[in-house]
Amino acid sequence: MPQFNQLNNNSADSFLLLLSEEDCGNISSLSINDNLKEILTDLTSRKDFKGKKGSLIRIPAFNTEFKNLYLAGLGKKEKVNLNLIRDSLTWGFRTIGRQHNKSAAVILENLKDFEGLCFVLGEAAGLCGYTFDKYKTKDENYESFSLEEFYSDLYEPDEFNKGMKFAEAQIFSREIINEPGCSVWPEVLAEKAEALAKEYNLACEIWDEKKLESEKMGGILAVGSGSENPPRFIHLTYKPSKPSNPSKKIAIVGKGITFDSGGLNIKPDNFMLTMKGDKTGACNVLGIMKGAAELGLNVEVHGLLAVAENLPSGSSYKPDDIITARNGKTIEINNTDAEGRLVLSDALCFASELKPDAIIDMATLTGACMVALGKWRAGLFCNNDELAEQILTSSKNTGEELWRMPLEDEHIAETLKSPYADLINCGERYGGAIFAAMFLKEFVDEKISWAHIDIAGPDFKDKEYGVYAKGASAFGVRMCLDYLMKL
Ligand code: BES
Ligand code: MN
Ligand code: ZN
Repeated sequence: MPQFNQLNNNSADSFLLLLSEEDCGNISSLSINDNLKEILTDLTSRKDFKGKKGSLIRIPAFNTEFKNLYLAGLGKKEKVNLNLIRDSLTWGFRTIGRQHNKSAAVILENLKDFEGLCFVLGEAAGLCGYTFDKYKTKDENYESFSLEEFYSDLYEPDEFNKGMKFAEAQIFSREIINEPGCSVWPEVLAEKAEALAKEYNLACEIWDEKKLESEKMGGILAVGSGSENPPRFIHLTYKPSKPSNPSKKIAIVGKGITFDSGGLNIKPDNFMLTMKGDKTGACNVLGIMKGAAELGLNVEVHGLLAVAENLPSGSSYKPDDIITARNGKTIEINNTDAEGRLVLSDALCFASELKPDAIIDMATLTGACMVALGKWRAGLFCNNDELAEQILTSSKNTGEELWRMPLEDEHIAETLKSPYADLINCGERYGGAIFAAMFLKEFVDEKISWAHIDIAGPDFKDKEYGVYAKGASAFGVRMCLDYLMKL
């Protein structure tokens, strides 16, 4: 992890400034050193750089003090917020690091009115170097990233370090999500959870297939039945060292399908690609547990991971099967590719039994949610307005965008019914994300505040952008940590 130093000399390899369009027209008012001011005045008067959002220029070797000066545009000042700053800093640092700079000094003076600046600086410093490249040969053509040292004019170590811990939690989750199905299956995820528990002194319970049987986890067992790699249920507990009285207790539940082929209702052609990412919810739970422990949060957190591999074979669960979830409800299977709601049904029953103050589940649950909201927004389904508001606030704070979706629909409710069992696992195409959420509701104690976050859309990034590298986004980690931190 990178080093941070107060900006006290001009020894950095590179200098970074984030400028809005208005800043560019008003260079003289910036409190920056005269040398720099002169250069910026010249650049902006020639309109080489106008502060347009997304623009980034490098002025190499512009004097003997700094090797490289980088300017990143923030666009219109009125639209600048902390989320844009987080993205721009990460992207600026990423570029700087790829261009063989070892250290970067960032001037934040012109942005000092934004509260939490040093926090997002820490996040950006932690996230900028991340790519999933462990399987690539590091030969002479390999583009390495060399940025390790950061300087800034506004530096608050506490805030910076917290931001860095947020980044570490996200990277921890992304690293596991990005691993393909040939290297992570349920037992491997369980080992990773165990190692994490050991490192942070968390309680850790892992249920194997025998225990799943005796504990009546019929959903997890059915979904895992087609694979030679047996399913697992994982329960991690973080308890604050000096709990406030009364201290809150929150359960975070994650869908952990280490690979989703669809099962016997096998996915066609390209639909199976990126389905290694169907374990994101569970990996996020691990990242959040790590973050909670690192930050020493003052809230009891239960992390619950429902983990299975969904494959077709002679032992797979089948369409027409009727299975029984932990709470005794029977489910007719009409589509083995609607498996996430089945593993979550057992996990949500278990979460309810813990009697927490709130349950939050994260799941790459439906393609329908991605069709509805696109690839940059997750769907929020919530049975309690106060909890929904808290989560929406954390979403705004962290730039992980959410849109609240309905959890009640009398017509869709009709389609949840099966002629042979209490429920059917798959409804019609239309309203598929709502159907799935309403299905999950059947397994949550209705007295408990519960939020379901369908993260199928933003789960995978086709290309890097802002805080995101290509591949897993770990969308949800920042938001949930923010929610827990503010309780
Ligand atoms: N894991 C998928 C959902 C998904 C799709 C996540 C695309 C990320 C990107 C889920 O298990 C699934 O297969 N859902 C089906 C449900 C259908 C059978 C009701 C879907 O969305 O097509
Ligand atoms: Mn599926
Ligand atoms: Zn799935």
